[in-house]
Amino acid sequence: FYVDKGNHRHFMQKEMFEQPEVLSHTLGAYVNMTDGRTRTPKGQELDFTKVRRIALSACGTGYYAALVGRYYFERYAGIACDLDVASEFRYRESPLSDVDLALFISQSGETADTLASLRYAKSQGLKTAAIVNVPESTIAREADVVLPTLAGPEIGVASTKAFTCQLMALAALAVRAGVDRGVIKADEELEFTRALMEAPRLVNEALHLEGEIEHIARDLATQHHALYLGRGFSYPLALEGALKLKEISYIHAEGYAAGELKHGPIALIDETMQVVVVAPHDRVFEKTVSNMQEVAARGGRILLITDHKGAASGAMDGARLLVLPDMPEILIPIVFAVPLQMLAYHTAVQMGTDVDQPRNLAKSVTVE
Ligand code: G6P
Repeated sequence: FYVDKGNHRHFMQKEMFEQPEVLSHTLGAYVNMTDGRTRTPKGQELDFTKVRRIALSACGTGYYAALVGRYYFERYAGIACDLDVASEFRYRESPLSDVDLALFISQSGETADTLASLRYAKSQGLKTAAIVNVPESTIAREADVVLPTLAGPEIGVASTKAFTCQLMALAALAVRAGVDRGVIKADEELEFTRALMEAPRLVNEALHLEGEIEHIARDLATQHHALYLGRGFSYPLALEGALKLKEISYIHAEGYAAGELKHGPIALIDETMQVVVVAPHDRVFEKTVSNMQEVAARGGRILLITDHKGAASGAMDGARLLVLPDMPEILIPIVFAVPLQMLAYHTAVQMGTDVDQPRNLAKSVTVE
């Protein structure tokens, strides 16, 4: 196939802007648009009625999607999740006797460690499922159940649209699982699917922050270190935001659970440390804000990304603010991913790095 950049400067930028459309395609595979019920694609039926524990595994950005998946399955379906990067899962020889389903996530469907993990799970007699973006890939062929993301070809090495589509598939699957297990009632299911259908509009609004983000990126491009903090759903996003920045701008970045700030990274805070706080207005918002105050008290440079309009007045002097539209809780990971991608992108553009082909990285890692 041939894919071009259209009017965009890089594939990564084009792929970020495709998100409203591909999220809607992906959702279509998991929701029956006539009755609003969740489902898995035809021929790939998955019954969660008796699933009590899922083992999730993936590499790179897929692993952070899996981390969001764990929050989704635990919160919306009451299913406990084990989570491993695939390079650990394949060798850990974890006793899997109480696991009912092994779920793998891979954009390419060819990552060596993820494939080896899938084979290990099968050798242990487990039922396997894979969320994949390439339907003819090895992982798609070998998994018992194939759960597609319909992101289309992703060329930029740093994953963007494949990630948010993985989150969309996971969100819909968690709702389906909740329904199967009687945790979510029929009318609640419709509320969830209505919320998921809002994703393209909200992601589109987030994309409109590009001008503002470009401005912030000019500043970030002058920094040498960045710390990303988040709690709950935002913890995996902090990890993913830091990964994106380091991958394409080569600025040293780390993601941390906000509550771990005082267990180490706080020692690094001074006026040279850029701190990106991911704080949607959710159950743990106040707690994250108090971590942000600890950073401010030590002179750290703060960028707060939130959907809490009132946060502007409460924000401390000097903190920069990026405000997203209000959104349903289940969409927080999907919509908040967008400004984090865009921040990394524009920082890298400022620095003049090879955004689509960053040094030392490969789109698909087929060797160990
Ligand atoms: C490489 C890519 C990442 C990707 C990871 C896993 O490191 O650069 O963008 O997240 O592999 O790839 P997969 O195709 O299995 O999702």
